[in-house]
Amino acid sequence: MAAFKELVFSGVQPTGNLHLGNYLGAITKFVALQETHDCIYCVVDLHAITVPQDPETLRSSIREVTAAFIACGIDPKKHIVFNQSQVPEHAELAWVFNCVARLGWLNRMTQFKEKAGKDRENASVGLYAYPALMAADILVYRATHVPVGEDQKQHLELARDIAQKFNNDLGPSIAAHGFGEAFFPQPEPLIQGPATRVMSLRDGTKKMSKSDPSDYSRINLTDDADAIAQKVRKAKTDPEPLPSEEAGLAARPEADNLVGIYAALSDASREDVLRQFGGAQFSTFKASLVDLAVAKLGPIGSEMKRLTADPAAIDAILADGSERASAIARKTMDSVKDILGFVRR
Ligand code: TYM
Repeated sequence: MAAFKELVFSGVQPTGNLHLGNYLGAITKFVALQETHDCIYCVVDLHAITVPQDPETLRSSIREVTAAFIACGIDPKKHIVFNQSQVPEHAELAWVFNCVARLGWLNRMTQFKEKAGKDRENASVGLYAYPALMAADILVYRATHVPVGEDQKQHLELARDIAQKFNNDLGPSIAAHGFGEAFFPQPEPLIQGPATRVMSLRDGTKKMSKSDPSDYSRINLTDDADAIAQKVRKAKTDPEPLPSEEAGLAARPEADNLVGIYAALSDASREDVLRQFGGAQFSTFKASLVDLAVAKLGPIGSEMKRLTADPAAIDAILADGSERASAIARKTMDSVKDILGFVRR
């Protein structure tokens, strides 16, 4: 396959509270990748409206996710931070991809099945076509690496299938326009580390999620020290002490989850954590976890508060990022139009 310049892209929906899962599964990776790659991080507001949103809440959530990115250490000057709706090429390329993706591919998407639930007839067409827009988000920048949590793996596979089908179906035209064998790269998911799937604090078999009705199921990035301490103390566990080896976590989802969270927060492995806490009671372990979580998340929450107090400054960051993102996206879209045979100005 042709060589593509390495570029990182990822997105976060501005819906509900950002939580520890988003932070450990995605945002900490975004931060680290800035050292080695050019990165584009997007607040995906077009994805948010696949389910109904209150406009005022949506507006403040877009600013809050932007603030979270920055509070966690993303540099919007060196890299690009923007919101999706300010770059219309995302929606434009998504339409092209709606015509590339097959119904059979989308019918397999487990997230649609979960989100649409039993009343599938009443789900929006947008919710169904969501993965084609997600593929467009990535490929409109011809991005090569996509840091995400485990739950996005199937969508990334679909993005790869779409890229490949576009490259195959339009091969001669792609070559004729000087792009060699492939116009789009095969974007690679980066799903690594001990917390690619952070589970609910109330039920170790359920994913930690923005939409869980119980706030005790998750730690929000905006939670203060008291809230973090309460939630960790109340987190479901089992009566056994912690094992000394990873194999001992096998049938203990809640223990496994808390150890994974501790490992990710302290930049260690599960084994490292068990070496330290093997044989300890949960009360001891939870006290250390509270200290660690408060030390890591406390400053982020206060910085988010400071940043969201000045919405105009956040909007200026998004406007600047959108302009720089647009310049790249427009170029891709022009080439896509040429490849497809559209007549353009
Ligand atoms: P979203 O907004 O649901 O979640 C943002 C990121 O957080 C990760 N994540 C988790 N990781 C570990 N444990 C959890 N419990 C957990 N919950 C969420 C998600 O995997 C994600 O990386 N479709 C995407 C947004 C998107 C996107 C994109 C991502 C739109 N276009 C293009 C990458 C590239 C979503 O709904 O993420």
